Amino acid sequence: MRFSNNVASLTPSATLAITARAKKMRAEGQSIIDLSAGEPSFPTPEVAAEGAAASVRAGRTGYPPTPGVPELREGVVRYLGETSAHAPEDPAGVLVSAGVKQGLFNLCFCLFGEGDEVLVPAPFWTSYLAVVELARARPVTVHTDFDDGFALTVERLEAQRTENTRGLFLNSPSNPSGAVMDLAALEEICAWAGEHGIWVLSDEIYRRLHYDGGPAPSVFDVKDRPDHIVSLDGMSKAFSMPGWRIGWSVGPPDLIRKASALQSQTTSAAAGPSQYAAAAALASEGRETIIGDFRRILDRRRRAAHAALQGIPGFDVPLPPGAIYLYGRLGSGDATDSDSAAVAESLLVETGVATVPGEAFGTPGYLRLNFSVEDEMFAEGADRIRAWFGSR
Ligand SMILES: Cc1ncc(COP(=O)(O)O)c(C=O)c1O
Repeated sequence: MRFSNNVASLTPSATLAITARAKKMRAEGQSIIDLSAGEPSFPTPEVAAEGAAASVRAGRTGYPPTPGVPELREGVVRYLGETSAHAPEDPAGVLVSAGVKQGLFNLCFCLFGEGDEVLVPAPFWTSYLAVVELARARPVTVHTDFDDGFALTVERLEAQRTENTRGLFLNSPSNPSGAVMDLAALEEICAWAGEHGIWVLSDEIYRRLHYDGGPAPSVFDVKDRPDHIVSLDGMSKAFSMPGWRIGWSVGPPDLIRKASALQSQTTSAAAGPSQYAAAAALASEGRETIIGDFRRILDRRRRAAHAALQGIPGFDVPLPPGAIYLYGRLGSGDATDSDSAAVAESLLVETGVATVPGEAFGTPGYLRLNFSVEDEMFAEGADRIRAWFGSR
């Protein structure tokens, strides 16, 4: 079939494809340990479910305003004010979308186009390349190193900057590596971007899943930041509500209005009951307890999963400071075993353990494993992985 140039280089999300395959194998009766998905395994918090139910009972089921219901836009501003040092205070700078994913698409489509380059630090979340390419701009990957915890520096960014550079993705804590940027690095990078008129799109969806202290630093903790900065967050990870499809972009109101116009021509708005669920969770007195409880369980699972994968020759798995993944390097010594796609395929077919190979994140030679699954499931997966490496 012949498709348009718009989707010439489009492929399905690698992670979603692997997860779908694992589900199918399980449905066929195979014993599958799925460590490939990008979602926490907790149920929706009661206060959110009740917020949605109450809105439906009250008949608030018409089209919501395109940029989001006032309760949620105002709730996002309050939440940011309570969790970062220098957050914007105007709800006109908030656009609610069907997840961070739609927010990123809106922003890229509004900001970038033919001839533009967008810097994407690797390893990167697999969808960044696709959204940049859908906008017909060119993603330019920026290398970082396993040995220094995938730290991103101005020097590395500057090495890839050209006169066409228009944007930069940040993602801290990172999917897949869990790396967290400290405030000093964020300040330096924001200042550098401002100097060169580069838009910073800071994907902060894992910000509250930071295990070494409070929330990971946000671009809204940077005091004297340039205007061209947008942060994105949502309900999928810290509130364990990925199926509700709620995310928000927060940035200069002019940009938010344009992105909202785009959204008005595509999805109209994020689903109303989902927005009321999110508003109820953000405003609830128990909000920090909900997140804190999730984080404590995830921290325990993170440590247990990390411990379970130590000492496997050819698989070097560090303890990540944030997010919900272990990102292990394949190979021995300095020699990375770069065909991680083949390793992931063998693991799936021979042992039934689904992981995501580093190719999906721009860094062949790694495997990503979701550590947020139930304890027994991870333990069984780790046993199978250890046995597989032992038999190579
Ligand atoms: C880094 C990152 N950003 C965004 C998303 C998607 O978030 P949402 O469910 O809000 O679209 C994910 C989901 O895996 C992610 O890992």
